[in-house]
Amino acid sequence: MPQPYKINSIEEYYAAYNKSVQDPEGFWDDIAGYFLWKKKYDQVLEWNFEEPHISFFKNGKLNITENCLDRHLGTLGNKPALIWEPNDPEEHHRVLTYRDLHNKVMQFCHVLANNGVKKGDRVCIYMGMVPELAIAILACARIGAIHSVIFGGFSAQSIADRLIDTHSECVITCDGAFRGNKEVPLKAMVDDALIGCKFVKRVIVLTRTRTPVSMIKGRDVWWEDEIKKVESNGQRDFPAEIMDSEDPLFILYTSGSTGKPKGVVHTTAGFMVWTAYTFANVFQYSGDDIYFCTADIGWITGHSYIVYGPLANGATSLMFEGIPTWPDAGRFWDIVDKYRVNIIYTAPTAIRSLMSYGLGPIQGHRLDSLKVLGSVGEPINEEAWHWYNENIGKKRCPIVDTWWQTETSGIMISTLAGITPAIPSYATLPLPGVQPILVDDHGKEILENEVTGNLCMKFPWPGMIRTTYGDHERCRKTYFTTFPKMYFSGDGAFRDAKGNYRITGRVDDVLNVSGHRIGTAELENAINMHTGVIESAIVGYPHDVKGQGVYAFVIFEGSKEDMNMVRKDILETVTRTIGAIAKPDKIQFVNNLPKTRSGKIMRRILRKIAEGEMHAIGDTTSLLDPAVVTEIIKGKV
Ligand code: WT7
Repeated sequence: MPQPYKINSIEEYYAAYNKSVQDPEGFWDDIAGYFLWKKKYDQVLEWNFEEPHISFFKNGKLNITENCLDRHLGTLGNKPALIWEPNDPEEHHRVLTYRDLHNKVMQFCHVLANNGVKKGDRVCIYMGMVPELAIAILACARIGAIHSVIFGGFSAQSIADRLIDTHSECVITCDGAFRGNKEVPLKAMVDDALIGCKFVKRVIVLTRTRTPVSMIKGRDVWWEDEIKKVESNGQRDFPAEIMDSEDPLFILYTSGSTGKPKGVVHTTAGFMVWTAYTFANVFQYSGDDIYFCTADIGWITGHSYIVYGPLANGATSLMFEGIPTWPDAGRFWDIVDKYRVNIIYTAPTAIRSLMSYGLGPIQGHRLDSLKVLGSVGEPINEEAWHWYNENIGKKRCPIVDTWWQTETSGIMISTLAGITPAIPSYATLPLPGVQPILVDDHGKEILENEVTGNLCMKFPWPGMIRTTYGDHERCRKTYFTTFPKMYFSGDGAFRDAKGNYRITGRVDDVLNVSGHRIGTAELENAINMHTGVIESAIVGYPHDVKGQGVYAFVIFEGSKEDMNMVRKDILETVTRTIGAIAKPDKIQFVNNLPKTRSGKIMRRILRKIAEGEMHAIGDTTSLLDPAVVTEIIKGKV
């Protein structure tokens, strides 16, 4: 697969970068030329950050699956598109060539159509990491339905919230999912969600764990039965729906500093061009490389860099059902050895967790096929960076520390493997098309280097968020009003003398726990729902493996006979309301929270207490009752 937009030297990087700033329309017009359009666009870019209104490749017509599948068939039909490694190493792996995947996607398009799904409909997908998840996503895209994948760690309540917000009438799920030595009851969770979502007309259930599940007549159908019908009807080809460049491709929910998660909307052409371009350049994929991204497709990393980005480049993408530490902590290296993986893309939390097992699990595995190591999701600390570099890459493999977000849809700031220099703990330089700007708290641009500021973007890029589903005003308020006429990322960053960026972490009330985003307000709301809880405050604290741990300060006035049990009950309420991924690591019961005279919780103080930095608490005189702080320090857990 030729990747004409691939940057091959540092000079080419600077040339591409400069062109992307001086002539963004010309730059993206050139790159878009390498994709398959049913009708060419008539304008490359139209935008303003006030509304915001972002349109890339206006009036262009295309289907992303023709770009990810059909156009490769002639040259790469027999090349593996997806390799699937099951949870259990004893079970057989699966390989789907581009032709296989194309056929299966078309088959499933028929299933969707036979079940009433049409262009523009929303479809929620709650599945484990099986190839059918990728097939379901691509089939939605081909038929023009907007997919919304829900990570398997979310609760029935979270599923229901998303079903209601998207008004999805069709859900695709599995009976269950295998994760390590656990079986996750996916269908049962969907059933619970559907009690309050009578508008859902169809649930398509794939068999994976073959655990007993309830199947409601008229509503629930088996994936396998539906495929059989398609086969016996002789339904084969499924022409790709003609989509507009700015037609929504998917909705993915993510947490913010206020209220409920918001549905980040990405559109067809911009997302396609951005993920394809960034994949090729950051990872420097070539030839028959085997590329392994360890993320879950339930998060943006899986959307952009397991499914769409790699497939748009004709790459071989390895998808793994299990977890890094089961049956043992050598599982990733086992997979690297088995398939001779060339590029691995994982998260600092996984690296730190594997570090804690020592070097034993690495031994006996051939890692010499590796060429590039990637990191994503949170800042990678220097210790983890060096461990990854020395023990996995054997100091031969460039590390790409990729900074981006659900809202950016693709990598924004990163080293290009082997092309631009890597610096431990730095994401380094912006990709072509990305115009970062640091501003102070008043929104004034910081021009000098060797400084820290709020990380914003002053110019649009093709893959940027278009809206928050059903509530454009929320999108405007969240991202475009903190600093007028800029996209605000919510992160802080340091810029060195050479223009390299080091991400310092969130500057808003969003936590990053094991690379997953948790909104403190959302979690507090969940805890406050627990009977007897009067009020709560959530802050993060440094955690050796998770990056950040969740510390909850809770005012509880129910029965105090067995506080250990109350703690467990609260965890259960969180698990039911949001999902197990949001469970606090520590709960401290307090009588009061430090508040200003106007009643605002002083999180800064709580953060210092949770971090154990009592000496840095600073001035408490503005508090309504400074004695509260002393009391909380005494009870620290
Ligand atoms: C937040 C976005 C990017 C896909 C996975 C997470 C943090 C992400 C890095 C990095 C430092 C990073 C930021 C960002 N983050 N990558 N390389 N270095 N921080 O997506 O759930 O939307 O979270 O993750 O704080 O804002 P997400």
